[in-house]
Order: sequence, then C-alpha cells, then structure tokens
Amino acid sequence: MKKIAVLTSGGDAPGMNACIRAITKYCLNQNMECIGILDGFDGLIKQRSTNLNYDDVNNIIQKGGTILGSARSKEFQTKEGRKQAFEYLQQLAVEGMIVIGGNGSLTGAKIFGDEFNVPIIGIPGTIDNDIFGTDHTIGYDTAVNTVIEAVDKIRDTASSHKRVFFVEVMGRDSGFIALNAAIASGAESVLIPEEVTDIQALVENIKEFNKGKRGSIIIVAEGDDAGDALTIMKKVKPFLPDYDLRTTVLGHLQRGGNPSAYDRIIASRMGIKAVELLVENQTNLYIATKGGKIITQPIDYATQKSGAPNASKLEVIEQLRTKK
Ligand code: F6P
Repeated sequence: MKKIAVLTSGGDAPGMNACIRAITKYCLNQNMECIGILDGFDGLIKQRSTNLNYDDVNNIIQKGGTILGSARSKEFQTKEGRKQAFEYLQQLAVEGMIVIGGNGSLTGAKIFGDEFNVPIIGIPGTIDNDIFGTDHTIGYDTAVNTVIEAVDKIRDTASSHKRVFFVEVMGRDSGFIALNAAIASGAESVLIPEEVTDIQALVENIKEFNKGKRGSIIIVAEGDDAGDALTIMKKVKPFLPDYDLRTTVLGHLQRGGNPSAYDRIIASRMGIKAVELLVENQTNLYIATKGGKIITQPIDYATQKSGAPNASKLEVIEQLRTKK
C-alpha cells in the first residue's frame, strides 16, 4: 500500500488531531503518502482533500477539534453520493481509508467499504463513548473532565445559594458522560437514558439529600426518557415549591478544548495501529481499547450494537448520597 486517506466525520472530538498526526507521521515514516479528506464524507463527494506532510501535523497534538474539518453528510447516505465519493478516491489513487468518527460514521464507512471494495479501518472518535466493543472512544475522557470542571464551578453557586441544579450533559442516546461525570463530580443524582426516570422518586431524593446539604447537583443526560433538564425541572417543581431549582445546559463546550493526556495517548496508538492494518492488507476492522490494550475487531461489531455504560455504577451515586 502506497497511498491512504484519512477523514474525520460526525461530531468533532478532542484527540482527533492527535490521531491525524499519528496516522500522517507513521505513514510518511513507512514511505507512504497520506491524503487528508476535508469535511468528512462530504469532502469525498465534493472532491476536497490535501496532501498531509510532517509540517501539517506539527504542533496539533494538543489542539481540540479537527484540522481536517468534519460534517454529518446526508449525501453520503445515498448510493449516488457514495458512488461520487468512490470515484474521487479512484482519482486520488488511494488504496485504503481510515475513518475517525462515531457510530454513524463507522456505519457509513462499513457500507462504503462493502459496496466498492475499499479497504477501510475505523477509529472510534466521539465524546459520547457509545461505540460497542471499546472501553473508550477518542474524546470521551476529555469531555468527562470538561463536565466535571464545569460542575465544580456550578457547585460553588449551588451551595452558596442553597440551590438544586439540573445540569444537562451531552451523549445523544447514551449515559456514559452523565454517569461517569456524576460520580467524578460527586453529584447527588444522575438521570440516564438507559434507566427509566421516576419523577416521584427523584422528588423524594431531592428532599432527602437536601436535608444534609446546602445545595445539590443532578446530572441529566440529554437523551433521558423524562425529557431535557428544563422539562425535568418543571416536572418536579410543583412538588418542591420551596426549593430554588435551576438548569444549566453545558452544550458544545463539552466538545471543544485541548485533549486530555489519555485521549492523546489512545489517539496516537489507534492511529499507528490503523496504518499497520492497512499495510497488512486487512480491512473492515475497527480499533478499540480493552483493559488498556489496543485491539482490533470486525467493524460489524461496532455498528450492529450500541454501547451502554455499566449500570452498576449507578449504585456508586446511591451509596454515596447524603442520607440524614
Ligand atoms: O455525537 C456527539 C454529540 O456531541 C452528541 O453528544 C450530541 O447529541 C450531538 O453530537 C450534537 O450534534 P451537533 O453538534 O451536530 O448538534
């Protein structure tokens, strides 16, 4: 293999640049060419790319976002769009492609690889951590750290003013960020899509844990079945007329920022592994982490099921809740 392409797709995630850097440098060190496709699958269809050299990836390991740009491409979901994308890859004489992205991106990559017989390797890059078969996705660790930094600040106001804050975090349909940020920030309660939310139980909890505390934090995953943080706050308000309830939506601040050490490390290791696999003519695989090791699995494994957080971790919140 002499020439490969890399693209980032879906929501940007901190650590994507570290991964692009690793892929580029490792490729060049193997005397291979590395083409960066701009703006995800959209860039393939619209014929936008750049030759990546050492200079392009110097000084990016610490940067959030993605230097290649990203997109959620509607056109790539059509057969015609994918055909155009393939024609551009042929024009570029690219022999294999690495796709860094979330669930939707890996699914698109798999379909594309099957349809046009393009060697594809997937790398899980999403703050949501919802890709099946991997302990961690690139960007997740940074996002959790960003959330706990924000919650630490919100707690100052919560305890100064005796307020109950409903803090909404990202994660689409998955509670990874919510659950782990809740444990790490000492939240009094957490609501995740994987568990049915019982509003009455939540009301009783709020009454209970506020006996012993000046303020409290409830982390709400954006995909919770009872609604978003504001909706949930409005549902409990009639039962808690004397409580000062507030909502904060952390939104996209969770997606940006310098990647954590952990994200930089897994991104670098995954990037090298992806190039190695293409060199060995392996395809239809994705890279994952398992117990600190970098492993590879069939891409089907990632796209047919969705990852869910370890629900037993909910017990940690329960076990550490103030009960007086
Ligand atoms: O998949 C990452 C993510 O940040 C989700 O947590 C969130 O639901 C979604 O992307 C938001 O997407 P967008 O930035 O396109 O609104």
